Amino acid sequence: MGESQVNDVLVSFRGVQKSYDGENLIVKDLNLDIRKGEFLTLLGPSGSGKTTSLMMLAGFETPTSGEILLAGRSINNVPPHKRDIGMVFQNYALFPHMTVAENLAFPLTVRGMNKTDVSERVKRALSMVQLDTFRNRYPGQLSGGQQQRVALARALVFEPQLVLMDEPLGALDKQLREHMQMEIKHLHQRLGVTVVYVTHDQGEALTMSDRVAVFHQGEIQQIAPPRELYEEPKNTFVANFIGENNRLNGRLVSTDGDRCVVELARGEKVNALAVNVGQAGEPVTLSVRPERVLLNSASDSCSNRFSGRVAEFIYLGDHVRVRLEVCGKADFYVKQPIADLDPALAVGDVVPLGWQVEHVRALDPLLESA
Ligand SMILES: Nc1ncnc2c1ncn2[C@@H]1O[C@H](COP(=O)(O)OP(=O)(O)OP(=O)(O)O)[C@@H](O)[C@H]1O
Ligand SMILES: [Mg+2]
Repeated sequence: MGESQVNDVLVSFRGVQKSYDGENLIVKDLNLDIRKGEFLTLLGPSGSGKTTSLMMLAGFETPTSGEILLAGRSINNVPPHKRDIGMVFQNYALFPHMTVAENLAFPLTVRGMNKTDVSERVKRALSMVQLDTFRNRYPGQLSGGQQQRVALARALVFEPQLVLMDEPLGALDKQLREHMQMEIKHLHQRLGVTVVYVTHDQGEALTMSDRVAVFHQGEIQQIAPPRELYEEPKNTFVANFIGENNRLNGRLVSTDGDRCVVELARGEKVNALAVNVGQAGEPVTLSVRPERVLLNSASDSCSNRFSGRVAEFIYLGDHVRVRLEVCGKADFYVKQPIADLDPALAVGDVVPLGWQVEHVRALDPLLESA
């Protein structure tokens, strides 16, 4: 790593482990560098260790082993209020007996800032989240979205170098959540502050982040920019957790560089990218995104060509999901933009379909009960 890259790092988790009961590791061996100014999201299913990791960074939990560095300095023994970190949580936790302005002034007053500066900063923070006219209201007199904006402003008002957010939009309805996602993203771009964001909503993670770290059972499965995570999952867990995915189980026949041949249960051979495979003869799960499967003549030039029997159409307005039986699999999905759908296609039809070798990834086998 070059010198400039080292200086770009704001937070480093080094071999961090966490156990609450002295037996089970909730966070296994976390090694993670968070870059200055980055929007990093921790994404993963419930119980995967996201909040625990964030709490260790905030200072509310202590690592069982390992070290956390902030701006190159170990903070293992620095108490939360001395870490210069702003925080926003799902349950806002605004002070109910203080007005909006008083809530925003609080982090500044406790830091010993003088009255004139406090009032100036509060004013700026209010206009940043467009709540200027709400300064004298109490939290109970605000909507959920407005409360969340105040919480956001309060986390930013003392201009911390780092802001942590744990499911901050979880309590909001879909429309408001999407609006706040863009608002937080734009604030991040404007202020250049480093954000570590926790969510279990993959759409939220993909739209907001510079990079996403996918957590599972206390370990990072993959950390990458959204597009790379979606297009180039490294293992079956990530492929399944992010987006939709057709899975075909088979055995590895041979590999040739970054390509491989996989034989499915009924003997069909698939040419795939050899992403995460073992030796010839070992089980493999193939992963194909529904939007990468081409139907009818569009599939003519595909290196993998099969046929499928149409079982169901699911209309979603801008696109149609077609469920087919393909290679013995009853629930194989193809996503067709409405403009590309052949209007003559009907349930029961057998159609040619295919996908390119670049769009099928051979990954570690998923043990499925079905
Ligand atoms: N204070 C605690 N004492 C004991 N176990 C805990 C404590 N906090 C969390 N755990 C356990 O640690 C595991 C990880 O919890 P954590 O809160 O980090 O998960 P998470 O990824 O944030 O999940 P969610 O998406 O549900 O918020 C869970 O099994 C949880 O029960
Ligand atoms: Mg959590």
